[in-house]
Amino acid sequence: MNLRALAAKAVFDVLERGVSLSVALPEQQKLLSDGKDKALLAELCYGVMRFLPQLDHCVSQFMSKPLKGKQRIVHQLLLVGVYQLYFTRVPAHAAISETAEACRKLKFEGLVKVVNGVLRNIQRQIPALAESNDTLKYNYPGWLLKRLKAAYEQWPQIVEASHQRPPMWLRNNRRQQSRDQYIAKLVAAEINCRPGLSDDAIELEFATDVSRLPGFAEGAVSVQDGAAQWAATLLAPQDGELVLDACAAPGGKSCHLLELADIQLLAVDADSKRLERVQQNLDRLALNAKVIHGDAANIDSWWSGERFDRILLDAPCSATGVIRRHPDIKWLRKDSDIQELAELQKQILDHCWQWLKPGGTLLYATCSILPDENSNQVAAFLARTPDARLDALPQQADPLAIGWQILPGQDGMDGFFYARLKKATL
Ligand SMILES: C[S@@+](CC[C@H](N)C(=O)[O-])C[C@H]1O[C@@H](n2cnc3c(N)ncnc32)[C@H](O)[C@@H]1O
Repeated sequence: MNLRALAAKAVFDVLERGVSLSVALPEQQKLLSDGKDKALLAELCYGVMRFLPQLDHCVSQFMSKPLKGKQRIVHQLLLVGVYQLYFTRVPAHAAISETAEACRKLKFEGLVKVVNGVLRNIQRQIPALAESNDTLKYNYPGWLLKRLKAAYEQWPQIVEASHQRPPMWLRNNRRQQSRDQYIAKLVAAEINCRPGLSDDAIELEFATDVSRLPGFAEGAVSVQDGAAQWAATLLAPQDGELVLDACAAPGGKSCHLLELADIQLLAVDADSKRLERVQQNLDRLALNAKVIHGDAANIDSWWSGERFDRILLDAPCSATGVIRRHPDIKWLRKDSDIQELAELQKQILDHCWQWLKPGGTLLYATCSILPDENSNQVAAFLARTPDARLDALPQQADPLAIGWQILPGQDGMDGFFYARLKKATL
């Protein structure tokens, strides 16, 4: 299989068909057997997503007319080609000949010369990548830049942080060993790491395949970003409690809750396919939960038991805090999605609240950095909910802020938001 052709297919699926890269990439990776080839394929696809406006602009400067319809995939192939010339150590002659060959493999014989010619022209000149407007300068969609500028003085740093490659984080399974014990095992396996700020978190110096992690298959650790690991710690489940994880799939936070305390957990999600991953994660870690396919905005339809002591609401969101892990989000989301998501979050939050016991705790979480999904959402909830009060988190830099907004790259973590809400006792 020609690796550049596979990259063009994955990029095409994202940009033309709206498929997320985390689905499109593995589809193509499974056609390769060599680990290094898989890694290069990922690098090419992620790179194109990170620098799409500049790459697009560069290609268009060297084409007399844009490619349309079925030929669009050759445009995506050119993006892959240009990315190699600017951002990788692949020798230019190899990048060009392999990309031209990919055009043949994609069955666009008639365009091989065009691909070759465009890439050769660019290679001869290597013009500075355009920075003539903010979208080109920052490789970000205009609507999202506008929202970030309105919310944060430090928006350029946020944008810069979301272009960085994220570190790999592990969550120690404290039911098997202490974090220090596991760090010692990593060091013995020559995997450099350091403890994170939350109790179970370990940040690796370099990402590695999970097969190299001591005891991974037996559940000694899980892969989970340092920011996401705060969820279970902040909800702080206690032995014997009934806990709801209202939007649970793929189950990282559900498993962490079960590692922390002997609770009865309901792990619910509206997406049955994603729920399969919850059960797989529970099985690997030898943990038990009731896994339920259901709507968190209509709990009555699948639960007739008592109300919950604690609820984790890790709401569906724009995922703007995790663009460094999923750069395709920039091109898959649109401005109008934010209002729709905020409305969905509101419905789920209001409904889950009714299912919380008096005196109970609900942790509202998103991996967004947009106030409409976070602080504004929670402020509006507090204003319309007389029996709710905000429990300030010690981690918040500003104790008067509504919730704890973690920005991408802060202490090595993803962008995340947490607000802990307490329900009045009767
Ligand atoms: C941010 S993800 C959850 C991640 C998960 N908590 C974890 O740590 O692995 C949000 C989830 O909400 C689910 N979802 C969206 N709308 C829902 C609804 N109305 N009821 C329940 N789940 C919903 C999505 O399927 C998605 O899996």
